[in-house]
Amino acid sequence: MLRVKAMNYVDTYELSKHSPAEFWQKQALELPWFKQPSQILSTNQQKSYDWFSDGKLNTSYIALDYQIEQGRGEQTALIYDSPVTGQQKSYSFNQLCHEVAKFADVLQNQAVSKGDRVLIYMPMIPEAVIAMLACARLGAIHSVVFGGFAPNELAIRIDDATPKVIVTASCGIEISKVIPYKPLVDKAIEHCNAKPQSCIVLQREQCPATLIAERDFDWQALMATATPIPPVPVNATDPLYILYTSGTTGTPKGVVRDNGGHAVAMTYSMKTVYGMKPGDVFWAASDVGWVVGHSYIVYAPLMSGCTTIVYEGKPIKTPDAGAFWRVCSEHKVNALFTAPTAFRAICKEDPEAELINNYDLSSLKRLYLAGERLDPATYTWLKEKTGLPVIDHWWQTETGWAIAGSPVGIEHLPTKSGSAGVPIPGYQVEILDNQGQQIPAGQEGIIAIKLPLPPGCLQTIWRNPERFQAGYLNTYDGYYITGDGGYIDDDGYLYIMGRTDDVINVAGHRMSTGEMEEVLSSHDAVAECAVIGINCPLKGQIPFGLVVTKNGVNLADSELITSLKSSIREEIGAIATLKEILVVERLPKTRSGKILRKVMRQMVDGEQYNVPSTIDDPEIITELDAKFNQLS
Ligand code: COA
Ligand code: AMP
Repeated sequence: MLRVKAMNYVDTYELSKHSPAEFWQKQALELPWFKQPSQILSTNQQKSYDWFSDGKLNTSYIALDYQIEQGRGEQTALIYDSPVTGQQKSYSFNQLCHEVAKFADVLQNQAVSKGDRVLIYMPMIPEAVIAMLACARLGAIHSVVFGGFAPNELAIRIDDATPKVIVTASCGIEISKVIPYKPLVDKAIEHCNAKPQSCIVLQREQCPATLIAERDFDWQALMATATPIPPVPVNATDPLYILYTSGTTGTPKGVVRDNGGHAVAMTYSMKTVYGMKPGDVFWAASDVGWVVGHSYIVYAPLMSGCTTIVYEGKPIKTPDAGAFWRVCSEHKVNALFTAPTAFRAICKEDPEAELINNYDLSSLKRLYLAGERLDPATYTWLKEKTGLPVIDHWWQTETGWAIAGSPVGIEHLPTKSGSAGVPIPGYQVEILDNQGQQIPAGQEGIIAIKLPLPPGCLQTIWRNPERFQAGYLNTYDGYYITGDGGYIDDDGYLYIMGRTDDVINVAGHRMSTGEMEEVLSSHDAVAECAVIGINCPLKGQIPFGLVVTKNGVNLADSELITSLKSSIREEIGAIATLKEILVVERLPKTRSGKILRKVMRQMVDGEQYNVPSTIDDPEIITELDAKFNQLS
């Protein structure tokens, strides 16, 4: 008989490591399955593992109907707080369930059924959550695309996910700027091959959209005649969603998440990683377009009977750097989770955190940070100014929940500045050298996770199992490669030192420098280019481009740079904006032609660098050094 709750961290971790099936079966027993799984862990054809393969459940049932059955019908499920529109609205579990069940009918009337894809492109409004849960209710697979992506990125995702329906809103609001979404969707549909059958548009008064007859439908009009429908049972291994994330190439990867493993991971993490219980208020200040939003704005809090917050605002300027403290105080938030960049922005505007004094933060127990490295300065500032435990935890879109952190629901371990904590039970984290051999504590290497991954992690890459295997599983037999480098100290704490590939993290948003290079190199004037991620005190990293022009190009550097910057915004989106682009004579390369991106990054960041002996022409370094020194 397992007694996980009474155990300390080390015992729990060891148990999850040595008896994963027993460990997770115990956790799965806490969920209301339609059919309890008897097959807990099995291997599949992708050299990976399936969890709970013969179980049947419905994710929206667990998040809504089941909570009502447990007596939480009148409890607040969702609070919408929108400083950009001045609106606030709450939904009880009863109300949210009703809206979701009706929107599931709307989708069903658009011929959406189990296994069909629905693409959601919406700002931070409750209807985004309703649409996601309605898909889950039908067993349809949602793919939410972050509102900051441009039509081209949207079109790439439409072509890959081939959705039957797109759900959108007429506009988003960025501080005081109204961004019409509908024209972006129209443009994306125009450019994609896999045209959706219909679009459902939530009209917002700030910028109503023009609807295209026979293709576009008004959300409210369809809801007016809809009747709530019950949840459809799905297999544990049926996909719940596809979420695209940046890889090293220009083509984003559609991370596929199942229903069963995800439900178990969400409920387990809510109590273990975040120490939350039913009735608590949890706020993930992120966006439903990112994995944090999927897991900790939508699924985990609701499935755990907690109240979640949908915040349509920023850490600053909506209206000031006290915005987060206001929300925590007004809605009695018990735990806040955001990216370090949000607190760096707050600290910049309100270094003494004077605005905290305007609010009662007595409900707030802990602060959680992830998405990028929590720099020691921000960690210390937050700890000092709030007096709260500040918990860094490390995870990625692929895993869907924390790989490392401080599992407060098991044991209160001390946090260490600069460390993302200890491996969470279920994750066997190891540091490997280039040959795949484990290396001793304190030495930096490749961070890998020994298979099986715990429930809730990616099942595959949508329509591309080869990419899943090649990108994550084939490098070292029996391991999942995280793409991050780092080390584990003598106490078992993990330190994440950055990506080992060409992925960068801008304000907690994961971006591919490879994708930006593709946009730059498609410009008529560009012969070759490189994009590197350089340090930024606010956003962690920002992209920095270097381009070499083709012979005979007569464009002034400044004109070319303006044109390249706008290409990036148009092709990828405003969040990818290149701060600086330098036109150079040539790029430093090895004799085999590999561009020395790391050396250039170190040079721009003012770090020590070693020029490899294989460099083609050492003179280039001197040239570049002079150019970089002229930068502000
Ligand atoms: N829809 C449309 N455009 C968006 C958008 C969205 N959902 N989100 C961002 N953008 C646009 C912004 O309007 C801005 O456009 P602009 O250059 O025309 O002004 C651009 O993308 C860059 O935005 P952002 O990255 O937000 O930078 P910022 O300088 O405006 O704000 C911060 C800086 C730190 C306040 C902001 O990045 C922030 O709130 N970060 C928190 C990140 C976060 O929550 N990450 C989630 C992972 S846990
Ligand atoms: P995403 O898939 O967008 O969540 O980005 C995942 C990547 O962000 C990871 O692979 C890391 O490189 C980085 N990351 C996330 N959380 C942390 C953290 N706590 N510390 C350091 N890096 C992090």
